[in-house]
Amino acid sequence: MTTGNPLEPNIFVIFGGAGDLTWRKLMPALFDLSRSDGVPEHFAIVAVDRVALSEASLRKHLHEGVRKFARGGNAPVKEWNEFSRHIGYLQGDFKSNATYQELGERCAKLEKEWGAKAQRIFYMATPPSLFGEIPTFLNYAGLAADAERSRIVIEKPIGYDLESALALNRTLAAGFQESQIFRIDHYLGKETVQNILAFRFANPLFEPIWNRRYVDYVTITVAEEVGVEHRGGYYDGAGALRDMVQNHMLQLLCLVAMEPMVSFVADEIRNKKVDVLHAVRPIPADAVHHSTVRGQYGEGWIGGKKVRAYRQEEGVPPDSRTETFAALRLFVDNWRWQDVPFYLRTGKRLPRQVSEVAIQFRAVPHQSFPSEATVDWQPSRLVMSIQPDEGIVLRFQAKHPGPKMVLQPVDMRFSYRESFATPSPEAYVTLLADVIHNDATLFMRADQVEAAWRILMPVLDGWSASPPNDFPNYAGGTWGPDATQSLLVQQGHCWPAPVDLAGLRNGGDR
Ligand code: BG6
Repeated sequence: MTTGNPLEPNIFVIFGGAGDLTWRKLMPALFDLSRSDGVPEHFAIVAVDRVALSEASLRKHLHEGVRKFARGGNAPVKEWNEFSRHIGYLQGDFKSNATYQELGERCAKLEKEWGAKAQRIFYMATPPSLFGEIPTFLNYAGLAADAERSRIVIEKPIGYDLESALALNRTLAAGFQESQIFRIDHYLGKETVQNILAFRFANPLFEPIWNRRYVDYVTITVAEEVGVEHRGGYYDGAGALRDMVQNHMLQLLCLVAMEPMVSFVADEIRNKKVDVLHAVRPIPADAVHHSTVRGQYGEGWIGGKKVRAYRQEEGVPPDSRTETFAALRLFVDNWRWQDVPFYLRTGKRLPRQVSEVAIQFRAVPHQSFPSEATVDWQPSRLVMSIQPDEGIVLRFQAKHPGPKMVLQPVDMRFSYRESFATPSPEAYVTLLADVIHNDATLFMRADQVEAAWRILMPVLDGWSASPPNDFPNYAGGTWGPDATQSLLVQQGHCWPAPVDLAGLRNGGDR
C-alpha cells in the first residue's frame, strides 16, 4: 500500500542473496517493481552469501529466476542489464564481524557517491537459525543505528513455538525498535486477502449481518495439490500447524473476524487484528482431540497421476509422524462472534489447490414457502475466493422459472479477471514495495506472532503428548482424514465444495 511520496535512496541488502528465496521470489519481485518505477533512482542491491561467486555469474543465475518467475515475464536482456547493474555481491561468513565491516564500507561508499543518506533494508533470506544472529551482528556493527532509515525483514518461521518466538522477538528488540522490524507473512500481500478489508469496510451492505446473529459458521480452507516437493527436510520439523496455521490461516481469521479499523494506519489495523487473536478461546488440553484433526498423506492419485506418500518424499524419515494436514474448530469469544464456530483446514496433496473463506449464513427464521418449493433450499453463503480463482461468490435462493414456486440456489459472482484489466501483482511485489515505503500495515507485529503461538500451544502439546498411530491416514488426492468431516458434521455443518469462478467445475458440499 504505497503512497506517492518520492523515494529516498535505498540499499537493499539480502542475506542469503545466492539462495532459493532470492532466486525464486525476491529478485523477480524487485525486477517487477523496477519496471513500474517502484524503486528509487539511487538504488543498490547487495547480495550477501557464503559461496564463492563472481558478480557476473550471480547476475546470470538471477536472470534465469527472473525469466521464470517475474510476473512481467521474459526480462529482455537490455532491460535486465539495466536493472542488474544495481546488483552487487559480497561474499562473507554471516557470523564474522569482517562481513559486516565490509558491508558498512560498501554502504558508506554508495552514500558518498549519491551524496545522500540511504534507507537501508536488511532482508533475512537465510535459514531461521540465523534470524537472531544476523541482527545481532548488524547491531554490533552499528549498521542499523539510524532507526528512521534502517529496517530488517524476516521471513517465517518466527520461532518454533511460543518460547522460541518470545526469545527471537527479545533478541530482535535488543537492537531494533519494533517499527524497524518487518515480519513477512506473504498471504497478507495477496490482493484477494487485502480485498477482505475492502469488501467488509468499504461497503455498508454486509457489515450489519457480519455477526453471530446472521452467521452460522465460517470455514477457512487453504488446500494445496502439491506435496512437500524439495522441502522435506524443513517441513518434517514443522508440519502443517506451524507451516500454515500459525501464520497464514490465523491471519485470514483475523481479517474476517476483526472489528472495523478507525483509520487505515498500520498500528490501528494491527491492533484490531491482534484483538481477534486475544479473543480466540483457548482449547483446553482435554478437548484438543475433539476440536482438531491431524493427518498425513499416503500414496494416491491426483489428476490421473500416481503420487507418492509423504514418508517416501525426499528428506522425510520413513516413520515420520509429522502432520501434512490440520483442521481445527475455533471460537472467538466476543460480542460479535460468541459461539460461532470458525473451522480451519489446510493440507498438502489435496485434490486441488484452493484457498477460500466461506461465510455460511443462518437459515431463515421461518420457512414461508411450501415444503415442495424448498427441496433444494440451501442457506445463503458468501465465499471469498483467494486463489487460484480470485473473486467473490454469493449464493442465495432464486425462484426457478416455471408455473410453480420452486426455490433453487444460484450464484452471483465477482471475478477479478473479468472486472479488472490489471492483473494482480505477486504478493512479494506488494510486500517489498511496502518495505521500501516503510509501510508496516501488512506485516506481523511481535505481539501478533506471540498471540498466534499462544492459541496453538495446547494443540502442539496435546498432539506431541499422544503421537498419531494411524499415519498415513488420508490418500493423496482426497480431502484429508475422515475425521475432518466429523468435526463439522457433529455440529450439523459441512465443508463447502470450493467455488468455481470460471463455472467449469461442479460439485455439492463435502
Ligand atoms: C508457505 C509454506 O508459507 O506457503 C508452504 O511454507 C506453502 O508450505 C506455501 O506451500 C503456500 O503459499 P501459496 O502462496 O502457494 O498458497
